[in-house]
This record gives sequence, structure tokens and C-alpha cells, in this order.
Amino acid sequence: MDRREFLKFAGIGGALLYTSSWLTSCGHGGGNPPPPPVQGSKKPLMVPSFNGGLFGYYKPQGNTTTITAKSVSLQVLDNASTNMFAYHMNDGQNDYYNPILILRKGDQFNVDFKNQIGEKSIIHWHGFRVDWQQDGHPYYAVANGGTYNYRINQIIDRSGTYFYHPHPHGRTGYQVYKGLGGMVIIEDGDEDNLKQALQLEYGKTDIPLILQDRDFNSDGSLSYNPTGMLGFWGGTLLVNMTLNPYLEVDRRIYRFRVLNASNARAYRLVLEKGGQRQRFWVIGVEGGLLDKPYEVSEFLVSPGERIDILVDFRSAQVGETLLMRSLAPTGLVPSGRMAQVANRELDVLEFRVAKDTGYTAQIPNQLSNVTPINTAGAQTISMPLGMSRMQFTIAGKVWDNNNALADYGYTFNNGDIRIIEFTNNTGVYHPMHLHGLQFQVISRVNSPGIIRSLFLQGRSVMATDLGWKDTVIVAPGETVRIAVDFSHNFTQEQVYLLHCHILEHHDDGMMINYRVRA
Ligand code: C2O
Ligand code: CU
Ligand code: CU
Repeated sequence: MDRREFLKFAGIGGALLYTSSWLTSCGHGGGNPPPPPVQGSKKPLMVPSFNGGLFGYYKPQGNTTTITAKSVSLQVLDNASTNMFAYHMNDGQNDYYNPILILRKGDQFNVDFKNQIGEKSIIHWHGFRVDWQQDGHPYYAVANGGTYNYRINQIIDRSGTYFYHPHPHGRTGYQVYKGLGGMVIIEDGDEDNLKQALQLEYGKTDIPLILQDRDFNSDGSLSYNPTGMLGFWGGTLLVNMTLNPYLEVDRRIYRFRVLNASNARAYRLVLEKGGQRQRFWVIGVEGGLLDKPYEVSEFLVSPGERIDILVDFRSAQVGETLLMRSLAPTGLVPSGRMAQVANRELDVLEFRVAKDTGYTAQIPNQLSNVTPINTAGAQTISMPLGMSRMQFTIAGKVWDNNNALADYGYTFNNGDIRIIEFTNNTGVYHPMHLHGLQFQVISRVNSPGIIRSLFLQGRSVMATDLGWKDTVIVAPGETVRIAVDFSHNFTQEQVYLLHCHILEHHDDGMMINYRVRA
């Protein structure tokens, strides 16, 4: 049962080098400093294909898909393999690990989940508007050896980039860290138009960038040593599980689907050419395409968020390189020694412009329609984020470990519209996430400079706050107001989660249930 499969997908070569300049940071559990960041040879970015493999694309097309969470051994480092977990699937021909599932709006979606990781687990379809029996609420976690059958009669979500990951209470951080998690891409007519206008192709010019930070021990094993305050921030960045990646690109437009699948780290992404900031476009967020492309030179992406971007490499010449980097998330975490790992700058991905193609497409002016939620007369619910007895709280509440269905006093009628106001009274940011629906960000107040500098002209929101969202960054000291439409088409009362997507915070109880009546 514990059969380990060996996955090799990256070129090997070069020695493991540890930087010697590592300074210990305090606050790590157990008092040991984290292992130093791992260096490695430059490797081609792992880009998925339709022939199986890690993150391979798969279209279930209404068929029931069996997905098994199990142990695997993965070649991530240059000269050591790493024992991890992955979601395994076989389509009769190929083995897939953490497959990228491609669905169509209106599709049926049936998954038989088998748990073989040795402890309870459940898959959550992050961003999907499904009834709570299909959502992966921790109440439905199955023990090792168990199965959970998801039956989604109809995908109603907009085209976009979604996320699936484990959600057993108290173990989500650990299981995601060990490797469980993947992407779902939903298509619809708006997506067809974009794809056609820009001639985008999966695995060629439409590419996932799954960002995860890790710490490795010298034998290649993962070290998981989160702090209570900040959660887990690793010193080594993987993109699509590739260490130190580069990607050869043509002089044309590419779409990148950025998924922050890290436990706690927020990335502040910029694109540089010869040290100069480059412009690119945000076209989509968690709930799908925005109304139009928004030109930016920097954006933030917190755990659980998905930001779709377009990059036009015609601004560079053949032979030039561009570098995507993550700057220090100043203002989201404390400064100083405690948060030294969190405040590190990281190289994300090097783009090598390899050839010209005579590509002439232009970015469309219009992408989709986003109808604003009408909040006229809507009641405001304030949810201060605080701390009590070393636990982060939501409106003073923490998760009840003895009752997964506990009532926290938030029951809505189907169709209610509310404004939820998150005020962060703690010293660390919280990416707040709701299950079961998508919301809209109305405004930000008291934002730190890192966020204010990204505000759209004349507004107090960032480009990545637009459209339909399921996860929103709330910085220390900040108040973020969101509009929520509690409508659904299910015949039963629904129980959904509202939590912080810093996985250690939610494992530690920064999570509550809310209910929506039939
Ligand atoms: Cu992606 Cu309840 O979370
Ligand atoms: Cu979710
Ligand atoms: Cu949090």
C-alpha cells in the first residue's frame, strides 16, 4: 500500500550548494533554525502536458475520476529525492500526479477520492460553488483507507483557475506542505474568445505557475517547522515543483496562471529586464476573468489566491532574459529578525526569449462581464481579526475542535446580501477565504504602503481585488470590506467555512462555519 513511486522530471546535474550566509531566525518551533535555502542548477520549468506526469492536464469530460492521495518520491533537488504526497490518477494510459483538471461550465464532475496517506483527509474544491457535501468540509474527512465520492451535477462557475487541496481539520498545513494540491481550469465562452484571440495553447503559451516555498534537510527530506505567529515560510522556492527554473519563450503573448499554493507566504511579484520593471496585465482572479485587462508592474498573491496574467515578450529581443522576482512583503509581516525568512526576496522564474514567430495578436479590450453586487441597504457584519490566548480569532471566535458543525452565529437566508468588514488587529496579514461562493471587494482603508502603491487610479482597491474573488488579503491594521451574495440553488441548508488561508492559522483554529438556509 505504501508503494512509493519515483518521479523524475527535472534534469539532474550540479551539486547541492548551501548558502553560508544564513542567519538563524527565532520563533521556529523546537528552537532549531530552519535549514538553509537550497541552491540548484538552472532547470527547465516543469510545464504540464496531456500525457500524464506531474500536474498533467486531464479532461474528465463527465466521467468519474478516481484520485488517490498517496506517498510518492519526487526528484526536486539536484542530487536527492524527496518523499512527498501526491494526488495520483490513471486515465487507462498514463499516470498523473496532482493533475490539472480541465472542466467546462455546465459539466458534471464526479470524483472518487481514495485516501492512502496514513491519516484522515478530504479534498476541498477551492473556489467552486457546490453544495457542502461536495465541498470538502472537514466534517467529511475520511480515515486512511477510506473513500469519499464527490458528485457535482453541474459546474456553475465562471471560466478561470481554481485550486484543490486537502482540508482535514488541523492537518491541512502539513498535507499541503507534503505535496497535495492541484489546479482546476474551468472553461466557458469568454475563455474560448480569449484563447482564440491570443492563440493560447495549454502547456505551450497557457502555463500554470504553482508557487510553493519549502525547507529541505540535507538528505533531501522536507522540513516542516512552522512558527505559531507567521505560519510556515520556507527559504526555498519551487515553481511547478521545479527548483531554480527557467522557461524558453517566443516573442509573443503568454498567459500564466499564478496559483499561490504555499502555506503562508505572500509573493510580491515583479518582472524585470536588465533590472528595469516591465509592465504586464492582470486578466483574472479566483472567480475568473476580469471585465478587461489591467496593466500593472507588480502584484501581490497570497495563499489560495489565483492571479491570471498576460506577458507580451515582444517587448524583448531574441537572446534577452527577463526575471520574475518576489520582493519582500513589507507591511504584511513584522520587520526584523523574527520575520527574516518571510521578508526574503526570491527569484521566481527566468524567461529566455528564444525566437521570433511573426505573432501579431493584440490583447482584447474586453474579456468578460462582471456585474457588481448591489449592496444598497445591505447590512454590514464586522469581523475583527484578533488574537486571544495565542490563537488568532475571527470576531473573537475560534474553531471548535470537538464539533465540526458548531454554530458560530452566522446563518443567512438564501439570497441575503451583506457587507463583511474584516479589520486586522494583529501584526501579521491574513488572506481571508470563504467557501461556497465568490464575493467582490468593495474597499480598503488604512492600508500599508505596499498595498496603497498598487491601488488603481482614484480607487482604494488593487487590480487583483477586482472581479469575483474567494480569498482576499487583509494587511495588519487594514479594514477590507467585501460584498457577499448568499444565494444558492441547493434544496438543503448549507454549512460552509470562513477562514484564514495561512494554513497554520486555520489549522490552529482561525476558522468558523457559516450557514445559508435552503
Ligand atoms: Cu483553500 Cu478552506 O480552503
Ligand atoms: Cu476554499
Ligand atoms: Cu491568518
